[in-house]
Amino acid sequence: MSKRIGIFGGSFDPLTFGHIDIIERGLKLVDELVVAIGNQHHKSAIFSAKERAVLIADCIKSDKLKIVTFDGLLVDEAKRCGANFLMRSLRNSQDFEYEKSMAAFNFDMAGIETINLFSAPQYAHISSSLVRQIAKLDGDITKFVPQNIITSLKNKLN
Ligand code: COA
Repeated sequence: MSKRIGIFGGSFDPLTFGHIDIIERGLKLVDELVVAIGNQHHKSAIFSAKERAVLIADCIKSDKLKIVTFDGLLVDEAKRCGANFLMRSLRNSQDFEYEKSMAAFNFDMAGIETINLFSAPQYAHISSSLVRQIAKLDGDITKFVPQNIITSLKNKLN
């Protein structure tokens, strides 16, 4: 049987406990999980894609995990990585509409399926942009992101 390879695309700026939960649960479902960090120029990023890749690799150790950065379409990166499906996560009903539309576009463009994992309830309110905002205003983000990310955010923002 061919390898089951999933690709989880996102901006991960920064990675949060919500993302970690999804990645760890996703790893149990696949032979290889590619975390694909998009260089999204429309979002005002704190970390470069390469920095985000290093932070993710520091947080999650698994032989099944591969971390890449990409420009362009996620479906093209999925093809490059030999992925059989896209993996995404749903936190709430707002995510549902957005993810439904994105999954349909990606299927139309490349015939690739999307598998969505539900966010664990304790992480369903977390978003990277609010974590960035709290960090910029010197708030406590220990409930949302791991220590290496707190340290790196402090270094960036000071
Ligand atoms: N836990 C915590 N946060 C979560 C989460 C979870 N389980 N699931 C989603 N989020 C948050 C992220 O933190 C992020 O928050 P932010 O907007 O406040 O920064 C938000 O949900 C959505 O971000 P993300 O999952 O990274 O999606 P995205 O829409 O920013 O990027 C890409 C997804 C990278 C796949 C996509 O936008 C992209 O760039 N693709 C390239 C072009 C393309 O292929 N477009 C698709 C056309 S159909």
